Amino acid sequence: MTNQRFPTVITIDGPSGSGKGTLSQMLARQLGYNLLDSGALYRLVALASMKRGVNLADEQLVAPVALALNVKFLVSENATSIILDGEDVTDAIRQEVVSMGASQIAAHPTVRSALLERQRVFATTPGLVADGRDMGTEVFPDASVKIFLTASAEARAERRFKQLQRKGEAVDKANLIADIRERDERDSKRAVSPLKPAVDATIIDSTDMSIEQVFARMLSLIKQAV
Ligand code: DC
Repeated sequence: MTNQRFPTVITIDGPSGSGKGTLSQMLARQLGYNLLDSGALYRLVALASMKRGVNLADEQLVAPVALALNVKFLVSENATSIILDGEDVTDAIRQEVVSMGASQIAAHPTVRSALLERQRVFATTPGLVADGRDMGTEVFPDASVKIFLTASAEARAERRFKQLQRKGEAVDKANLIADIRERDERDSKRAVSPLKPAVDATIIDSTDMSIEQVFARMLSLIKQAV
């Protein structure tokens, strides 16, 4: 039963390209909940560090960038604009070079702890859909519904390939698969908050499912629980 005084938190974790982003947006819209795209925060730290010429491997230098991150999420009816130091970086943070950088800085424990509170404040009434890697394990361990969404590396690369093609960007599919594997490896092998399902998460493998099928499955899980 939903408690009106406390926000209901739904966590959607999984590897890149599993469809988490799209599905989290669809769920938040359907339920009238807030949305946390935690990957955007890691991307912002990577981009802000790169702009400052900070070596991403140097945790001591990246952690202060994470702590001082000057970001605004401008939410409108159809889209969210992300403003970093007064500049619209909504598209810039999606570049492949920033994806790789985000995966690198996300392995630094002090960067992760610097972002913890920033993520938790998104949990306001009536509820939150939180999209990431460690939403169910670390950031919102008491969430009402935890979902781990996955798909094969090939299926995820294919989706990303089509997405980039629609944007008119030429990419090599073999490189995409290799990048996805490299990122998966780094995200799941890191010592702090590795990508893994929470013990109480429901795992959905979307390799052979349409977005609509996954959405219906998620809604039914949520309806059973809240
Ligand atoms: O979901 P995404 O592709 O936007 O995430 C970018 C990177 O940030 C990804 O390599 C993993 C990392 N990340 C993380 O470590 N923890 C999160 N909660 C979200 C993202």
